[in-house]
Amino acid sequence: MKNYPSFAALALNFLVAAVILSACTGKSKPFTPTMLDNLIPNTAIPTPLPDVPTLPLETATSTQPAAPTQPPTLTPPPIASPDPEANTLRAYASRRGKLIGAAVNNGMVREADYAEVLAREYNLLTTENAMKWSLIQPERDRYDWADADELVNFAIAHEIKVRGHVLVWQQQMPDWLKYTDWTREEIVAILKEHITSVVGRYRGRVYAWDVVNEAAIRTGNLVTPFWVKVLGTDYIDLAFQTAHEADPEALLFYNDYGTEDMGPKSNGVYELVKGMQGRGIPIDGVGMQFHYEVNRLPNLDQVAQNMKRLGDLGLQVHITELDIRIQDPPTQEKLEQQAQNYRDLLNVCLNAPNCTAFIMWGMTDKYSWVPKQNPGYGSALIFDLYYQPKPAYQALLDALKLK
Ligand code: XIL
Repeated sequence: MKNYPSFAALALNFLVAAVILSACTGKSKPFTPTMLDNLIPNTAIPTPLPDVPTLPLETATSTQPAAPTQPPTLTPPPIASPDPEANTLRAYASRRGKLIGAAVNNGMVREADYAEVLAREYNLLTTENAMKWSLIQPERDRYDWADADELVNFAIAHEIKVRGHVLVWQQQMPDWLKYTDWTREEIVAILKEHITSVVGRYRGRVYAWDVVNEAAIRTGNLVTPFWVKVLGTDYIDLAFQTAHEADPEALLFYNDYGTEDMGPKSNGVYELVKGMQGRGIPIDGVGMQFHYEVNRLPNLDQVAQNMKRLGDLGLQVHITELDIRIQDPPTQEKLEQQAQNYRDLLNVCLNAPNCTAFIMWGMTDKYSWVPKQNPGYGSALIFDLYYQPKPAYQALLDALKLK
């Protein structure tokens, strides 16, 4: 134990040197936070995507809100940069070197109020459904880019980073993929082709990808029947390698739920990502979903501990899908408790140097997936049905302001 401090100091020196070196050579993607609004994107401002034929709007599942009817604007005009001094979540988050985000569903940015709040308050958006397999490649070799393009172009116009969600998942798979008995050779080719097409299209425009979603089960083992049955657990390595080849600059994440605190499942994910690193598979971070009920968040000391051990592997953590649902009716008292929960979790992220993004699964209660997923619950987000900030919004703003 006597030697521990000097070893730690050596390790720290080595880490600092490595970060500086890699920042200079530009060969890797250090997670050192900087003024993120100035860094969007990494190199040059990405250009909006070329026009694609406008296809009818599609809904992911019956749980989708009705989409506005106006056609997508695929070449938005550039707008003025967000004011770094504004009294907004994004301005304060940027100053703290953090990304603050919301999942955005198809067509939402065509609603003026929605677009206004999104551009004002967030410096990151996640595609809630638009990039899922069943929506983006609904038939074999037929890609439907319109909804995803619209979100990416909105993000570029408003200097918002994009998290692409999701390349490989057991759910929201198209029938053509799900209900065919593929040979191993066929499914390898399909997986590679899909990832290469999707990541390739948004190369330089999508900042981070959820490459694989929800592959672990409660015990920490890897069981996602479809992919494991045909491909074995190798599909995870293959997906990350293929994504990296299609866009070497994009950050690549493994994303899951119930992996926030310490326990068998998060241990399984820890071993998975450590194993991947050992095999030389490119992975930059772990996404923790965080779908919870008010006052039932996982133990936050353990969340911090879990973030730290991932940080010790050199990995980032994104809080990817946060929502804190309230049983109906949402009283003022429950909204205050919810605000406290949001604040406490944000503080965990602010105190963890490798927790680089704090993303909520939606922006307004008007379009949250919660009431359909959990009947009798709702009010899970930080803006109400009328886009008015709730106590949770103020709690996040206050936490971001404090140093
Ligand atoms: C949800 C969407 O919010 C819904 O609109 C859709 O009907 C089903 O999927 N974990 C994930 C997300 O990784 O993709 C899910 O999103 C929520 C749970």
